[in-house]
Amino acid sequence: MGNFTRRGVLTAAISGAAAATLTGNVWSRTTPPPSLIRLSSNENPYGPSPAALKAARETAARGAYYSWDLRTAFRDVIADGEGVDRGNVVISTGSNEALCAAAAAWGKEGHILAPSLTYSSHLMYARRSGVSVKTLPLRSDLAIDLAAMADAVTDDTSLVYVCNPNNPTGLPLDGAELREFCREVGKRATVLVDEAYNELAEDPSAATVMDLVKNDENVIVTRTFSKVYGMAGMRMGYAMGRSDLMEKLRSYVMSWPSAIALAAGIASYGDDEFVAFSRKQIDDGRQIVNDCFRQHGLSPLPSSSNFVYVDIGRSAAEFGRQMQNSGVQIGRVFAGYPNHIRVSMGRLEDLRAFSRIFGEVYTA
Ligand SMILES: Cc1ncc(COP(=O)(O)O)c(C=O)c1O
Repeated sequence: MGNFTRRGVLTAAISGAAAATLTGNVWSRTTPPPSLIRLSSNENPYGPSPAALKAARETAARGAYYSWDLRTAFRDVIADGEGVDRGNVVISTGSNEALCAAAAAWGKEGHILAPSLTYSSHLMYARRSGVSVKTLPLRSDLAIDLAAMADAVTDDTSLVYVCNPNNPTGLPLDGAELREFCREVGKRATVLVDEAYNELAEDPSAATVMDLVKNDENVIVTRTFSKVYGMAGMRMGYAMGRSDLMEKLRSYVMSWPSAIALAAGIASYGDDEFVAFSRKQIDDGRQIVNDCFRQHGLSPLPSSSNFVYVDIGRSAAEFGRQMQNSGVQIGRVFAGYPNHIRVSMGRLEDLRAFSRIFGEVYTA
């Protein structure tokens, strides 16, 4: 029988079945098939970094063991890097989990206030869990209306959600204005600032409100490894805030990131070379996409993130279908903005193809 053992046959059958499933159903939902250019989910296809992949491979080999030590190490790395204590950091499985945990914890005490057009996965989760979420329109220039949000805070508001830069507009808030808002509103409700794209800001340290966290203000900041670090599929995020806020948040977090994600996160954090490389690809990509829109007389919003939002003056849903039929997947349509499309940055060669295909579909 030689090497043709029962165990060998079983392994071959299992991996054959898994391979069939991956190509047939699952794989196309995680990694786009080569025939599809995916510009829909604000990922960074240049990641994970070489250091993250090396750490992930080495850690996978030790996957038999729980990840306690890595969790402590991860919190220490973030705490050291951000200049806070370990107790000011909560680990989450992607930042979405920290956002959902905040929505659940604070939602028990009152309603959540948020802009009407913003990242909303956790807000939908909150609503499904019976939490009241009140939304306020953006300003006419599509910026978040901080003044209206401050006015709308009542005794019944428990959490105010602000995403900076906002998704899907890509527009950043003025750092000083946001700080003032957080200080003032923080006296009445906890302010949750989602900084998923902070590393892509022109000046990340001017854009962040981490100085308020260090000052023990009533502010929580969330960050992720899904964007500039290119680890969206690995699910690694964290929140930072005053220790009492973090204790409350931690008690609502439900899952533990895998050892692989923790190790990859530790290896990625502060990898200035990879961050600079990714920022450059994203900057160059935005240039290609913005040039394409402008060539067709469109006015993309000035984005400081890895996606661009633009009014195309016609049904975005229909246009998205036409692009998909031509092999390009763009972002979903957001309620209230039926003529806007959101295009995420991809590999530069894919964005050049996008540019050509956009022209064909738009002028057809
Ligand atoms: C603003 C914002 N916050 C949070 C998330 C959640 O990302 P993750 O759970 O991958 O960290 C996203 C994802 O697109 C986002 O755009």
